[in-house]
Amino acid sequence: MPHRRLVTVVGARPQFVKAAMVSRALARAGIAERVIHSGQHYDAAMSQVFFEELDVPRPDYDLGVGSGSHAAQTGRIMERLEEVLRSFRGPLAIQVYGDTNTTLAGAIVAAKLGHPIVHVEAGLRSFNRAMPEEINRIVTDRLSTLLCCPTENAVRHLASEGMVEGVHLTGDVMYDATRHFAARADERVDLERLIPFAPGEYVVATVHRAENTDDAPTLKRIFAGLGRLGVPVVMPLHPRTRARLGDFVPPETVLMIDPLGYLAMLKLLSHAQAVFTDSGGLQKEAFWLQVPCVTLRRETEWTETLAGGWNQLVGSDPAAIREAYQGITDAGKAPRHAFFAGPTESASNAVARHIGDLLRG
Ligand code: UD1
Repeated sequence: MPHRRLVTVVGARPQFVKAAMVSRALARAGIAERVIHSGQHYDAAMSQVFFEELDVPRPDYDLGVGSGSHAAQTGRIMERLEEVLRSFRGPLAIQVYGDTNTTLAGAIVAAKLGHPIVHVEAGLRSFNRAMPEEINRIVTDRLSTLLCCPTENAVRHLASEGMVEGVHLTGDVMYDATRHFAARADERVDLERLIPFAPGEYVVATVHRAENTDDAPTLKRIFAGLGRLGVPVVMPLHPRTRARLGDFVPPETVLMIDPLGYLAMLKLLSHAQAVFTDSGGLQKEAFWLQVPCVTLRRETEWTETLAGGWNQLVGSDPAAIREAYQGITDAGKAPRHAFFAGPTESASNAVARHIGDLLRG
């Protein structure tokens, strides 16, 4: 019998995808899990759809915190989470994913209550502290007991900050998700119902990072660059970006659509000529699906994807955006590359195994 019980805290879109794989692996390993949803993402298209299509266990609790400033959102999660965790009897371990405000709040509350913390996707660094996610990662890693790293670079980052104990190279649970769901996406999603373009005749773009959305001139430069590509651009729009656009009229070639679920996004991406994005998850999915990626940022946490020119960092400069696309089309870019080489055991099984050890320990 495990000594501790596992409680997982999720709240934002990419965390539901990661949880889909890890929760499955935990169930296979016979480990019971309670799931708490912070409510950071709450629109049906940002939350519910993932639980429906990925068979993620329904949360046992929804803290319903909604949106707000960083302090307000993080504070609300902390307050409500503390109350729920205090209501559980016996020793616990708390699992958090990635680098959102939900991750940070979960880690701080768990640490103050004296529960060991499992951080899945530990050790990532952009070395840009202007990103809220970078602060969330640094603090969460520092407080964590079990640090599950997706890449060797992540292990190195932690070592250079003096963290070696409890650090494991598990591989990337998002890789497991892409591998697991790509075939299902292909089978179940009808591209014609999503967009008026044929496979290979469009590019995909997504923009949601504060550094891009919250500065109007930067957001306009990105749209100007996308408008000059000379190819239709399909942009599933994050509510944050939609709100920031106000009455700005985007270029005619940019087709804005509602946010997509995971399966629709995988399908859209896998048939695109290229993807332009500031999302970390999409950079990796593009790499694994062999779709060239142009990252609308100056740095990336996923430096492995830069190998062989599969990912390029261009920031928000319209000329650089256009040039990157030109380079992709000139190269007739359909090169092949090796998928991430990981341990033979899948990443989610590795995470579940380490969690099992922690719970029994
Ligand atoms: C958050 C994460 C980011 C992650 C992203 C995934 C932080 C600091 N950022 O960013 O790391 O990449 O999730 O999508 O945690 N909104 C809605 N409906 C929703 C959710 C949000 O309308 O269901 C709008 C609100 O106006 C809100 C804004 O989007 O203020 C931003 O949402 P928030 O959760 O604060 O951050 P994200 O930009 O989604």
